[in-house]
Amino acid sequence: MLIKRNSNGIDLPFASEITPRHVFESRRDFIRKLAVGSIAGGALLEMASREAFAASSTAQKLVAQPNPAYVVLDKQTSYKDATTYNNFYEFGTDKESPARYASAMKARPWTVSIEGEIKKPMTLDIDSLLKLAPLEERVYRLRCVEGWSMVIPWIGYSLSELIKKVEPNSNAKYVEFVTLADKEAMHGLNRAVLDWPYVEGLRIDEANHPLALLTLGMYGEVLPNQNGAPVRIVTPWKYGFKSAKSIVKIRFVKDQPRTAWNLAAPREYGFYSNVNPQVDHPRWSQASERRIGEDGLFTKKRPTLMFNGYSQVASLYTGMDLKKFF
Ligand code: MTE
Repeated sequence: MLIKRNSNGIDLPFASEITPRHVFESRRDFIRKLAVGSIAGGALLEMASREAFAASSTAQKLVAQPNPAYVVLDKQTSYKDATTYNNFYEFGTDKESPARYASAMKARPWTVSIEGEIKKPMTLDIDSLLKLAPLEERVYRLRCVEGWSMVIPWIGYSLSELIKKVEPNSNAKYVEFVTLADKEAMHGLNRAVLDWPYVEGLRIDEANHPLALLTLGMYGEVLPNQNGAPVRIVTPWKYGFKSAKSIVKIRFVKDQPRTAWNLAAPREYGFYSNVNPQVDHPRWSQASERRIGEDGLFTKKRPTLMFNGYSQVASLYTGMDLKKFF
């Protein structure tokens, strides 16, 4: 996300930071195109770089069944781009800082406490979460509110599997995700960019939609720290900031949760934040997006799709004015 300081010294999002890596990425794109020309196709190059990574990575592999019902066919973002161009403000506000500093966070042991308006409160460790339902690989588009997008093979299962286990009662209208706020490991907490911890939330029917993914891995491995290890949410029809990383608590509540970005700038970041090309951010258009990895100097932006292309969620919002509830 984007920040600036107002006169009170509070950090706020700032539009001119939208493309800080533009020049760098154009150069990388140029180099990539050169390489593709001499190899025989982008797919081959992509495979080669995945294999190179696999050869050097010591990350724990995760076996997951690909779920063809949830695979977008767009070219996948390279592992390198997906793990070095991140938003994780607890580790700093620029895109490179999470990859640089997130190793200070210990993703194991880790527990997630599940509480609130449920019949079966519980605390689960990561091994229990890994075993709670069969792991699936799903290739989702993720569209950031800043105007860029990626295509990532995530690993996890529908959040609804977990919701079923804890048996929400009739007061459970919303689900709140509270993420780690560890001052020792996360130097970003020393800046008042947001009211820490980072909190996000969904309406209970959104949380129960099969697309909402409780995510434990990506690219065949456990989540890298900078991508929200060991457990995060991915809601691909919403702007990326709804996808809370490194979750420590899941609370079922009666009232709409007070979420971090909505609290920081309510006119700019709504509770729903469904991807919607017709509702611009107050300071920039949301009609198109830059796909990370294909943003060369002359590459056209892609048109942004309603619900990021996930039209199956439309019925969740029947009768709602999505301009008002942005
Ligand atoms: N979760 C936490 N805890 N802290 C954050 O700063 N940033 C959000 C979201 N989840 C964020 C977070 C934003 S703005 C985006 S776009 C996505 O994570 C980015 O996820 P990625 O880095 O895996 O692509």
